[in-house]
Formats: sequence, C-alpha cells, structure tokens
Amino acid sequence: MAKATRQASFEDSKVTVPAVLSSKGRRKLSMLTAYDYTFARIADAAGVDMLLVGDSLAMVVQGHENTLGVTMDEMIYHSRMVVRGRTRALVVGDMPFLSYQVSPTEALMNAGRFIKEAGVEAVKLEGGIHMAETVARLVQVDIPVVGHIGLTPQSVHRMGGHKVQGRQTGHAPGARDRLIEDAKALEAAGAFAIVVEGVPADLAATITSEVSVPTIGIGAGAACDGQVLVMHDVLGMEERLAPKFVKRYAEIGRTAKDAIASYVSEVRNGSFPTAEHSFSSPRPVQPARAAGQEG
Ligand code: KIV
Repeated sequence: MAKATRQASFEDSKVTVPAVLSSKGRRKLSMLTAYDYTFARIADAAGVDMLLVGDSLAMVVQGHENTLGVTMDEMIYHSRMVVRGRTRALVVGDMPFLSYQVSPTEALMNAGRFIKEAGVEAVKLEGGIHMAETVARLVQVDIPVVGHIGLTPQSVHRMGGHKVQGRQTGHAPGARDRLIEDAKALEAAGAFAIVVEGVPADLAATITSEVSVPTIGIGAGAACDGQVLVMHDVLGMEERLAPKFVKRYAEIGRTAKDAIASYVSEVRNGSFPTAEHSFSSPRPVQPARAAGQEG
C-alpha cells in the first residue's frame, strides 16, 4: 500500500532563494533584522522567513547617527552570530557603505567574504540603475542579491535626512519614475528580491506589479510581497527614532529597564542573593592538612 506522503510546507522548510522567488503572489514574506545569536534564534523559532543582518546595526547596536560608519569586518562578525542562531530562515548580509560602490570587482570580493567567512546565503545592497552592473557581476558567480531602493539610508546626505522618496515625478535619483526604472534594472540584473523603503504606498504597489521578483516593503504600504522591520523597533528597544511606519509589538526596553532596576535595588538592600541562589558545602568543612602529614 502506498504510504501517504505529506508535502513539506513553506513554513516547515528551510527558506531558500528559489522559495523566496516563487512566493511572489502566493504568500507574504516576513523579514526582520538580527545582529546576534540570541535574537536570531528567537526570530527563527518565531517563524521569520528572512533574517537581515542590516547595516542598521551601526545605529541600533553601535549607537551611531547613521549607517555609514559600520565596516565590512564588523558586518561579518555579527553575521556569523546570526548564522549560528538560525535553522530555517534565509540569512541576508547587508553590504556596508563603500564595500560595493567602488567597483564591481571590489563588490564581488566583499560579497564573497560575506558568503565564505560569515555563511550568509545572500547579500543586499542599496541603489538601482547605477548598481545594476554590480548586481549582475555578483549574480554571475551565483551570489544571490537583494536590491534596495527608495529611502536608501546610505544616501542620507543626498536626501538631506531619512526622508520619504518618490513624491516627485521625474528621473532624478529618488523621483517616482526613476524608482520604477531602478526596480526594473535590478530585476533585469538578476536580483531575487527588492527592498522598497520609505515611498508612498501607491508607488510601492506600482513597483510590485511591474517586477516579477518579490518586493519587501518598509514604510511602503501593504501592497508589497513582504515586509521588513528593524528588530529593535519591533521589540520596543530603540527610543531615539519613532518612524510612522514602525509598529512596536512589545516594550522590551521598558521591561528590561524595570528588571535591571529591581536587580540593582535588591543587591543594594541585601534581598538578593538568598539561600535559594547560594551553594552549600556537602559535609562539614575539614581543615586542610599540610602536605606530608596524612594518616
Ligand atoms: O539595515 C537595515 O536594517 C535595512 C532595512 C531597514 C531594510 O536595510
């Protein structure tokens, strides 16, 4: 008698690049940033499809004003921890500023380091038309690439801050028509997904319908094929910025502060540790004998 076989569902299986590609129009993808083993393990167990080791770590982990300062070595260091913490999610390493803009060859060397030294399965880089050649170079040697257009944080100085893009028509960087062209250029170059950040919802919907690869939105409305947020925003651990598009699903920052304040106060007033947290000796303590005096 033929055994009934159960088809492994997307939710049960390891997330792969082909699985992400074929999810377009069939299921929404969840992506979340992670920067270390502990939170990668928690997010993976919670069912996140893709873990992005974002260069946002410059801001939320390292405390910088923007993402420009984080280095390739630091990104690799954090990516290794994330890779160790996940079993199912696809891990994407974010190419830091100047690790891919100088030349396609340098981009290839750095993307290769991400794959080889950290064990990520794909890389992400910012930019559209002007990055298409670089994306194609990486894809040529089977390094899967996620594109990133719209409010690209590494362009903070051109944008004059972390500002919503795509509100003006035209072909200048960040303009509406240009962003559609950027998305198409990334698709043509072989990107398997495109992050669309900080653009009006109707523009993100147009981009999503114009490309055959999944779009992953952040501050880009509900029409994208998936969503990405920064872990510290989702968990309520980042106090400095409160962008409109963020939804805080917990207040871990406040919970952690309250817990630590309780610890501090118990240490001060002597109510921690108690016998419950202390070790006892197994038998009455014998005075130590001097060497050569046994028996
Ligand atoms: O670095 C990051 O966290 C990102 C996401 C916001 C997409 O690039």
